[in-house]
Amino acid sequence: MKERTLAILKPDCLEKRVQGKVIQQIIDAGFDIKGMRLLSLSEDSAKKFYEVHKERPFYGELVAYMTSGPVVPLCLEKDNAVADFRKLIGATNPANAEEGTIRKMYADSIERNIVHGSDSAENAKKEIAHFFNDSDLV
Ligand code: CMP
Repeated sequence: MKERTLAILKPDCLEKRVQGKVIQQIIDAGFDIKGMRLLSLSEDSAKKFYEVHKERPFYGELVAYMTSGPVVPLCLEKDNAVADFRKLIGATNPANAEEGTIRKMYADSIERNIVHGSDSAENAKKEIAHFFNDSDLV
């Protein structure tokens, strides 16, 4: 069944100028892009997006990092999109990511890990709504 997930190309992805390559890998893996934006996250918006991590020791650094440069949120659609996208990007820590995954190929560290992917269909709905109105999606 068709499912949607939210991806964010993070500031390190754009700094490294590999956003085109990463988007091509996403398309080649069978995802349809239903929405795509280029924006700079405000501190408030980044804090809200990562609210589930607010008690974590890395929360402050994560927010600072995600507001350090432009990002590209994408609404992606495919059968089994949430799980398949997490498989495509690899483990959160690129040191543990499998060969051929996007994080293994491009990421430097657990924080500078190139791309975000929703961890459940329920969170995907909330995360998509953080960046897109229904009328923004094709
Ligand atoms: P992401 O998939 O965007 O979801 C939460 C982010 O927090 C995660 O990717 C990492 O970039 C970051 N993160 C998770 N664990 C740690 C950690 N131990 N130290 C620093 N950053 C982390």
